[in-house]
Amino acid sequence: MSEQSGEAGALWGGRFEGATSAAVAALSRSIHFDWRLAKYDLAGTRAHIRALQSAGYLNTAELEKLDRYLVQLAERVENGSFTAKPADEDVHSALERGLIEIAGAELGGKVRAGRSRNDQIATLIRTYLLDEAKAIEALVVELIQILTARAEEHMSVAMPGRTHFQHAQPVLLSHQLLAHAWPLVRDLERLDDWRKRASFSPYGAAALAGNTLGLDPNLVAAELGLTGPMANSIDATSSRDVVAEFSFITTLIGINLSRFSEEIIIWATAEFGYVRLADAFSTGSSIMPQKKNPDVAELARGKAGRMIGDLTGLLATLKGLPLAYNRDLQEDKEPVFDQIDTLKVLLPAFNGMVATMKFNVERLEELAPAGFSLATDVAEWLVKKKVVFRDAHEITGQLVSYCEKHGLELHEVPDAEMAAISPALTPDVREVLSVQGAIRARQGAGGTALPRVLDQISALRRQFGVLGSGESVTSQETAN
Ligand code: ARG
Repeated sequence: MSEQSGEAGALWGGRFEGATSAAVAALSRSIHFDWRLAKYDLAGTRAHIRALQSAGYLNTAELEKLDRYLVQLAERVENGSFTAKPADEDVHSALERGLIEIAGAELGGKVRAGRSRNDQIATLIRTYLLDEAKAIEALVVELIQILTARAEEHMSVAMPGRTHFQHAQPVLLSHQLLAHAWPLVRDLERLDDWRKRASFSPYGAAALAGNTLGLDPNLVAAELGLTGPMANSIDATSSRDVVAEFSFITTLIGINLSRFSEEIIIWATAEFGYVRLADAFSTGSSIMPQKKNPDVAELARGKAGRMIGDLTGLLATLKGLPLAYNRDLQEDKEPVFDQIDTLKVLLPAFNGMVATMKFNVERLEELAPAGFSLATDVAEWLVKKKVVFRDAHEITGQLVSYCEKHGLELHEVPDAEMAAISPALTPDVREVLSVQGAIRARQGAGGTALPRVLDQISALRRQFGVLGSGESVTSQETAN
């Protein structure tokens, strides 16, 4: 087995006589994925040196110098003039190497006092996720705004509502679209709630038991914009529930997009013909010139599967771990990084697709009453005439059966035939046999009647305001 000579930037090695095997170095290395935490690591270090100074381990001049060097290093990371080397084990060792290159070993070597990579990484993942959550939230808010605008645009259009994927009762297209907005609103609430738990700082926990240097954890937490220090140093270094919860919420966002996608894919078929996707948000086939494919929706559906995998892998990693830090925890990062990258590439395309798809209003309206979707209205009309619901259900069932046998719609059954089925079925039942009448009748809380849809729109408008950047996507539609 090949051996590598002692690593220049290694953060350990004093008690080792031989060098690490190259195979072990390759296995241990996380720099190729944790480098994205560099900015957060540097922010953590800037907070940490303030704690070192206030506890008397750095004088004011040293603090000022180190702070200046850390700002310089952050700029060099940002502009790409300082990068990680393959020999750097992880983001922490790479940045210590970078700091020592600027500050020298004497001053730069003081910084690691009183902290461990264990409390360091546990803090960084939190500050990183808190930042990324904002980017994802902005994209989800945009989708909610787009759905609200699309609902307003098609406020009174009727369409078939389905249960068991069969025609059930007519609903407003606006109601159906908003039904995809509310789960996303709850995902945002989940992120808000998660943020409360994520905003605590593990710094000061050091390896697992706390530090002996009297470093002020409140100072570090305040510097990092966090609520305060964590209560238990073992928990601080070994828990990743905050990462798992974030991963669950992002997965759920993916699943919510996937369910909507499934409908869009079906709606775009020739058989349904409910929507046409804009050219800019669909793709063609390399062999079939006539094809226009809903790839954005399909990729959303596919990526939800991948995100479930990320979450499941993370949970499996956590399941068997004793306290405190175990190296298994290094595996917490790639799943959530993947989820964040996935949503950040998916949502802009998804939002654009939703903003620009064209509804075939005539087709939706035409199909709204199909499949005897007004039968419930007949039954409830009978109930209002004091027929017991059990009997009303039975009578309406017979009416549907008569229609099926004779190829008629409900309103086409002759008066005499209706009376033969039940004397309660008088001709004025036809009052409720209209789609708009059926929709208008559903005035109860959360129902599909127009006033209830308007309630939803004003609630969403109050919370999410006027259309943001989604507006630019919608206006492309007119250009198309
Ligand atoms: N790369 C490690 C991680 O992501 C950093 C912490 C390493 N700690 C240790 N004791 N080896 O978890």
